[in-house]
Parts: sequence; C-alpha cells; structure tokens
Amino acid sequence: MRAVLCHVDDIPDGQSRGFDPGATGRDTVFIVRQGERLHGYRNACPHIDGAPMAWRKDAYLSGDRRHIACHAHGARFDIQTGRCVLGPCLGQSLTPVPLQLLSGGQVLMTGPAHEETSP
Ligand code: FES
Repeated sequence: MRAVLCHVDDIPDGQSRGFDPGATGRDTVFIVRQGERLHGYRNACPHIDGAPMAWRKDAYLSGDRRHIACHAHGARFDIQTGRCVLGPCLGQSLTPVPLQLLSGGQVLMTGPAHEETSP
C-alpha cells in the first residue's frame, strides 16, 4: 500500500505518531522521528502479534524517549532497528514499514500497511 501519511513537520523531532492508512478505525502503523530520520513500524507487538502498543494516541515511546515501548507488558525496542532489547519478546523485532520522504516534505508509506502477512 502506498499512501502519504503526513508532512514530516507533523511529527516533532524525537516524538512518535500513529497512522491509520487503511482506515481501519485504529492506528496500524507508527513513525518515530529522529531529526531527519524516520522510523516506521507496524503497530503490532511481536510478543502477542496484533497487540497495539501505545497506551494513548501517539504514545509509542518510553518515558525517556530512548526506546519504543509496548505498554501492554513493558517491552522496549531499539528505535532504529525495531529489535526488542528488554521484555517478554527479547530478540524479536517489530515489523518495519518502508517510508520515503518526498521533496516537499510529505512522508510516503511505500510498503505493506498492517495486518496483511505474506504467505
Ligand atoms: S503485547 Fe507487547 S509486551 Fe506484551
């Protein structure tokens, strides 16, 4: 699925934001911004696949904002790799969502959106 999710300036540096590109009624992907780098992942924890991770809208980071956090059971994930570094799914990874930053600043999702899994 290709979809423009937002403008890069819609995500403050160092923060996260969720999106619902498939109009499912809940955010199925999220982005963490670190400067000009954007990290996109499915909003689905590998501990219990399909489990949404934020405790409230757009809250995908730990309190110190150094990790992505799943607020269901406290797993912590490396922001750049999506790999779980602490918690019940240690060593497993979030599913990346490929993104492209267009010249006008729009953030384009260029890959699968959410629940679809390849056979
Ligand atoms: S569902 Fe994410 S840590 Fe358990």
